[in-house]
Amino acid sequence: MIDQVTVDKVLETANSQIIEVVSDYVTLRRRGINYLGNCPFHNEKTPSFTVSPHKGIFKCFGCGEGGNALNFVMKHDQLSFVDAIKYLGKKFNIEIEEEEYSPEQLKQKNERESMMVLSEYAGHFFSKNLNETDEGKSVGLGYFRSRGFRDDIIEKFQLGYSPEQRDAFTQEAQKQGYKLEYLEKTGLTVVRENYQADRFRGRVMFPIHSLAGKVIAFGGRILKNDKKTAKYLNSPESEIYHKSRVLYGIYHAKQEITRQDRCYLVEGYTDVLAFHQSGISNVVASSGTALTSDQIRLIARFTKNITIIYDGDPAGLKASLRGIDLVLAEGMNVKILLLPDGEDPDSFAKGRNEEQLTQYIEAHQQDFIKFKTSLLLEDAQNDPIKKAQLIQDIVRSISIIPDSITRSVYVKECSTLLKVDERVLMQETGKLQRKKQEEDFRRNAPRPDSSMQPRPAETAPPPEKRTPSNPLELEEREILRFLVKFGERPVNPDEDEKVTVGQYILHELRQDDLLSVNPIYNKMMDAYEAVSDKTELPALKFFVNSADPDLSRLASDLVGKEHDLSKIHHKFGIVTNAEELLPNLVPKIVMELKWKKVKTVIKEKRQQLQQMEVNGNMEGLMELMKELNTWQQVLAHISKELGGRTIV
Ligand code: CTP
Ligand code: MN
Repeated sequence: MIDQVTVDKVLETANSQIIEVVSDYVTLRRRGINYLGNCPFHNEKTPSFTVSPHKGIFKCFGCGEGGNALNFVMKHDQLSFVDAIKYLGKKFNIEIEEEEYSPEQLKQKNERESMMVLSEYAGHFFSKNLNETDEGKSVGLGYFRSRGFRDDIIEKFQLGYSPEQRDAFTQEAQKQGYKLEYLEKTGLTVVRENYQADRFRGRVMFPIHSLAGKVIAFGGRILKNDKKTAKYLNSPESEIYHKSRVLYGIYHAKQEITRQDRCYLVEGYTDVLAFHQSGISNVVASSGTALTSDQIRLIARFTKNITIIYDGDPAGLKASLRGIDLVLAEGMNVKILLLPDGEDPDSFAKGRNEEQLTQYIEAHQQDFIKFKTSLLLEDAQNDPIKKAQLIQDIVRSISIIPDSITRSVYVKECSTLLKVDERVLMQETGKLQRKKQEEDFRRNAPRPDSSMQPRPAETAPPPEKRTPSNPLELEEREILRFLVKFGERPVNPDEDEKVTVGQYILHELRQDDLLSVNPIYNKMMDAYEAVSDKTELPALKFFVNSADPDLSRLASDLVGKEHDLSKIHHKFGIVTNAEELLPNLVPKIVMELKWKKVKTVIKEKRQQLQQMEVNGNMEGLMELMKELNTWQQVLAHISKELGGRTIV
């Protein structure tokens, strides 16, 4: 709860020094009045990420991400609003005054903070022990090195060592002023009636970091392969550590997960380390337990694509298949990679570099549902009862996928694999879908007593009379603005055969029959088409002086009010020197319009598809899917032209 005055102050300061904010994460180079760098939000080789110090904003022309300094840190570090304000306040030495907490809130907050501070300290203690004491160096560091872990990895993950002595840590921490209360609450100390002992003794230590990079818990591994003691000991659940919501390595992986748009999921601490050591850092570990919905959602904040790297035996794998359905239900695209017998990700990554590892993964990862189908099919081949169960099982997996297109694709593929009629599978998934919809509906339906009451007249929505909404408004206005401002200028100044901006735009839009739902926009195009080959008059003069008040008003509106213009281009001072950029910008804005148009079409078609699925209209469904497929290809093509915009 930060007061508004402070928020405003932080925002103003941070935006006016946005270069400093962004430079903490991105290497920026000066380019005219702006700065340019490689976008941290998508993978790119040529920089299209622009920061304007004057406007206090950033914009990536590759992926479209943009905003002010606050938006940048929120997005980049996946911070909440409050945490981002705090971060920036700290950076610019602005004291954050928080509003009063209730005594209960304050107690909880203090408790959490004390536990965090203690955990941070413990992390330092263990790592210092590893690197600076004789015991730590010979035993702990020796162990990590014998397993082939490099020093930079040991440092990056703040690995440590807990001494053998029964209460070495507890004593030292208390000497430093840390209270026994928190030592106990974090589980670092085991408190008994007449003695206290360290939880972790004679183990190598893996600190577990929160999404924001704070140490919140530990895993400790024994050094000898002693069958009697559990190999790993972990911190208990606490106020700051909820095992089911944390993924090991997420802090060190999040940025690369976003950039690669894929997350690798492994099982153990050392698997994560080994991948990093090989140069792959978009990897997290579930720490040996079944994945939870919270953990999946955590990954989903960064990517929809997940590859589960599995090192178990086939029997274990079959048992864990059901768990993976949870991942599907969150709308993730799931692939699975089986490692060769006897290898785990750690052993497999050792001795392979980034390229070899990536190549192997790409060549061997399989789509999860297809994989599951063929795996289960092996068992069921000659057993009709088993096969019927299998079909139900697969159908259940398919039906929980939220996206209807993906579902349909799977139906098709699985029908081939299972040798079952596509329509049968479609009907079965449809049934489960409808059942789920009905359940959702019942859950969300209003209670009978309230729905029985007649709606009072004054709360009825007012009758609406509006022009149809135009999803392409922004893009269309941007194009018209270029038409008005630069219509007569060449779009290809370096070539002999000159084409003007106006001619280019008209040609591009006409060949795809792109009409606006706004009749005035179409009128503007028509008017220019009628004169574009004949007049030498600058387009601006032509429109502003037009006898048609619709056109003159729209023209001055377009070039007059900068803030009304598309968010896309005007913010970076490009408007003033746009002419030299015309050869790049004009095709780009036309492409952007087309991209948005196709997106809109696809969205409509998907809605139709869903309806048909609910109605059970099989013929229509197949037809529509074909159509959709074509549109998807068009979209992919345009995206490529636009430079790798991700297709969702
Ligand atoms: N695990 C655990 N407690 C155990 C065993 C395992 O918490 N007693 C968790 C750890 O997070 C471990 C993961 O499950 O990293 C996977 O276990 P396993 O495959 O047995 O260990 P590895 O990660 O291969 O560890 P190492 O290579 O050090 O043997
Ligand atoms: Mn291992």
